[in-house]
Amino acid sequence: MIIAIDGPAASGKGTLARRLAAHFGLAYLDTGLIYRAVGARTADLGADPADAAAATAAAEALTLADLARTDLRGEAAASAASKVAAIPGVRAALLDFQRRFAATPPGAVLDGRDIGTVICPDATAKLFLLASAEVRARRRAAELQARGEAGIYAAVLRDLMARDERDSGRDVAPLQPAADAILLNTDDLNADQVFELAVQAVGRKVGGGSAQD
Ligand code: DC
Repeated sequence: MIIAIDGPAASGKGTLARRLAAHFGLAYLDTGLIYRAVGARTADLGADPADAAAATAAAEALTLADLARTDLRGEAAASAASKVAAIPGVRAALLDFQRRFAATPPGAVLDGRDIGTVICPDATAKLFLLASAEVRARRRAAELQARGEAGIYAAVLRDLMARDERDSGRDVAPLQPAADAILLNTDDLNADQVFELAVQAVGRKVGGGSAQD
């Protein structure tokens, strides 16, 4: 069983993916973290994240230990990730790892930008989360403030929109819903409501199931 969750930055993919993985007893892979780690490794080399040769070399040399870095969650890592993610060599280097993870029994939930379209086109269920940039920026700014970091709404909104543009406008694996994805607009929903709807949608795909936790 493979559940693919795609959507723009700060659309609630991670929260939903983690809960679905626990609910269905599946492994969870945050594929954004992989691109963030490649961006960080590229920066460690003193290279620009848009430098195709350096970023591809960083992706090819990536190890699981890189994913445990503690500096991957911030906005600088997010921005570098979005730049390395537009490089075809980087995406090619990361493809096998993601597919092998998804294919390992009992299955997995993966979240990202191209899970339903490129990584797991045969996923059991594909969800695509939508939310306006304003709602996402409000949620992200509140999250940052709760962590004691600077969460200025205008700056967060500007960064999100720049990232949306890069992630959707790139030539390789741009952010877009798969033809058979179930679209969930989360603008007016809280995390519990999104989870309930997602469990129902996955349940319909596998023939039963309801939200219990
Ligand atoms: O999900 P996230 O915000 O942590 O992702 C960081 C960046 O990585 C995002 O702006 C685009 C890129 N990314 C991608 O291109 N493909 C994925 N499957 C996951 C992330």
